Amino acid sequence: MELFDVYPLFNVELYKGEGVFVIDKNGQRYLDLYGGHAVISIGHSHPHYVAAISSQIERIGFYSNSIQNPLQKELAKKLGEASGLNDFSLFLCNSGAEANENALKLASFKTGKTKVIAFKKAFHGRTSGAVGVTDNSKIIAPINEKKDVLFLELNDIQSVEAELQKGDVAAVIIEGIQGIGGIIVPSSEFMNGLRELCTRYNAVFIVDEIQSGYGRSGRFFAFQHANIVPDLVTVAKGMGNGFPMGGVLISPDFEAKSGMLGTTFGGNYLACAAGIAVLDVIKSQKLVANAEEIGNFLMSELAKIPEVKEVRGLGLMIGVEFEEDIADLRKKLLYEKKIFTGVSGSKVIRLLPPLNLRKENVVHFIEKLKESIAELA
Ligand SMILES: Cc1ncc(COP(=O)(O)O)c(C=O)c1O
Repeated sequence: MELFDVYPLFNVELYKGEGVFVIDKNGQRYLDLYGGHAVISIGHSHPHYVAAISSQIERIGFYSNSIQNPLQKELAKKLGEASGLNDFSLFLCNSGAEANENALKLASFKTGKTKVIAFKKAFHGRTSGAVGVTDNSKIIAPINEKKDVLFLELNDIQSVEAELQKGDVAAVIIEGIQGIGGIIVPSSEFMNGLRELCTRYNAVFIVDEIQSGYGRSGRFFAFQHANIVPDLVTVAKGMGNGFPMGGVLISPDFEAKSGMLGTTFGGNYLACAAGIAVLDVIKSQKLVANAEEIGNFLMSELAKIPEVKEVRGLGLMIGVEFEEDIADLRKKLLYEKKIFTGVSGSKVIRLLPPLNLRKENVVHFIEKLKESIAELA
């Protein structure tokens, strides 16, 4: 059998990971400034994380959500403390798309309505409801086309109010920082406006923190830069540092009813062990503060490069826009300078490194980036 060929692949085969580095099968080290799509939060193969998952699998790896699982409660408690959302409750699932799917369901259950407001360039995942609120017609199959989703301009609060006034909107969903759309930070006024309008017009305010959450922006959640509290927050990616897991953080206004949501694998022992270890390391190594400090340094160094058109982002979620197509630059960085970067569109390099990135890694990257730009000129 062959693989269903849907991914454009770089010709690199990794053998192991170590902190902010990955090492290929020939022993070549690469600086990882992409974290495998923003997934690696605490660094590759962190010893505490490896020990937690290893000792858990030695005891028991899985049982269904029909028995007491104290690890789920420990994870929820620690996530409440880390995020400050202590009075929220947690529903555990397996991926980002699934988290958004469940958030949309909760919004519809609560309001009895079906219409959703999303934003231009949004990405929320590939399952039915999540892809329906994703602004990319190429990945929406006819069966997932939703007539009751509106894509409005980011930061245009008037257009949001005009729709909400009609009274038929179940939810407004927005990324804490747009990731795949090119690292676009919604303004603080806009986030505050959405919060206020959703309350006024009885719509559920969902913030998708799947890429921007778990400390990446220099706060635990990116929406915390705007000092607001949403009704639902979705998480995945950095939550498990590579172990597949997701979650919905649910405000106390929602009442849980038996059987309302459910999953076979969500919240399994291994996922919980991974998720708890991630939160322990984020706390003990002060990774949220590190993301802010090193992110600011990285952004200020990038802004000094004349060929860079714009640097956007917060913390270690950074978009670097160039005038020219960056495909060759990324290839050079990867194959010659041994640095992984990400992309958004054709002109934006997306940097989503592990949150334990250090100043010396930034200095190395900036030197190699300048070299690469000069060599391609
Ligand atoms: C903002 C955002 N939401 C949702 C998703 C979907 O997550 P998953 O691929 O785990 O389903 C992603 C993935 O890139 C994302 O960046």
